[in-house]
Amino acid sequence: MQEKLEKILSEAKEQLGKATQLSETEEIRVKFLGKKGELTSILRSMGKLEPDERKKLGLAANNARNEIEAMLEEKKDTVKGKAKELKLKAETIDVTEPGKELKLGSKHPITVTIEEMTNIFESMGFSVTEGPEVETVFYNFDALNAAPNHPARDMTDTFYINKDVILRTQTSPVQARTLEKEKPPIMILAPGRCFRCDTPDATHSPMFHQIEGMVVDEGITMGDLRGVLDRFAKEMFGSEVKTKFRPHHFPFTEPSAEMDVSCFKCGGKGCRVCKGSGWIEVLGCGMIHPNVLKIGGIDTEKYTGFAFGIGVERIAMLKYGIDDIRLMYENDMRFIDQFK
Ligand code: DAH
Repeated sequence: MQEKLEKILSEAKEQLGKATQLSETEEIRVKFLGKKGELTSILRSMGKLEPDERKKLGLAANNARNEIEAMLEEKKDTVKGKAKELKLKAETIDVTEPGKELKLGSKHPITVTIEEMTNIFESMGFSVTEGPEVETVFYNFDALNAAPNHPARDMTDTFYINKDVILRTQTSPVQARTLEKEKPPIMILAPGRCFRCDTPDATHSPMFHQIEGMVVDEGITMGDLRGVLDRFAKEMFGSEVKTKFRPHHFPFTEPSAEMDVSCFKCGGKGCRVCKGSGWIEVLGCGMIHPNVLKIGGIDTEKYTGFAFGIGVERIAMLKYGIDDIRLMYENDMRFIDQFK
């Protein structure tokens, strides 16, 4: 019996020595100390022994059990400690590792261009305002002196929501809205989206952007218009560019003009950008038609004004050498990233 106890003890010691998992220590506990365990069965069989023998062996068996229990506890502690150590090691953060590169977005060329143009005009005293993209026929056409049979009103040119409501075809209705609610001196800039029934190609898109400008005050002349727009052209395309004004027609201005800038690519000699002419058309402008001022409630005896409208895409394409307007709306990061 004594020998058996010693054997159990040394076996338990040996097995526990090899154990590395909590589940293993539990198996060992069951094997030796469980209900059907080896030591338990010895303790059970103790009843059959002589009292003297029982006392002696009982003591030894109890000692053996205590010893195994103590060893089990110790092993459990070390196994738990090891597991914790491993976990901590796995969770360590190496602060010297280089970080992951986060991809930063960049501004769209349209945004960049609007901001640049806006800054130039703001530096001359213009303030930015906005109007609705879903506009009434009244503000988009009637209040801008467009004849009832003007071709731009046609359903083939304009997106109609119903007979009175459309998607604005130009930013000019912001002129009419501003005249209605503000008193001169007025000096506003209105960037925004416009819509026309155009089939997309390299230079057309059914949605595009314009920047409208308007100045109304006492004594405003065509000279002011030329001064402001010439300054804009030089800031935008370079101080060496020249401007020229060609007569044109718009219903809401009289006289009306288109402004060309001397080609900033070839300096006027003629190249692909200016299509050989040395000049590039950049905007429409004119002195505000008295009818437009009157509809807006402005005293035309006292006040005059000028206005202009600039196509943002066209300016961006010229400035950045983009040869297809559709690239602007594809949102391909490889394209947009070039305008950082
Ligand atoms: N609204 C015109 C267009 O879309 C551009 C324009 C021309 C605006 C002359 C103006 C202007 O304010 O005076 O073609």
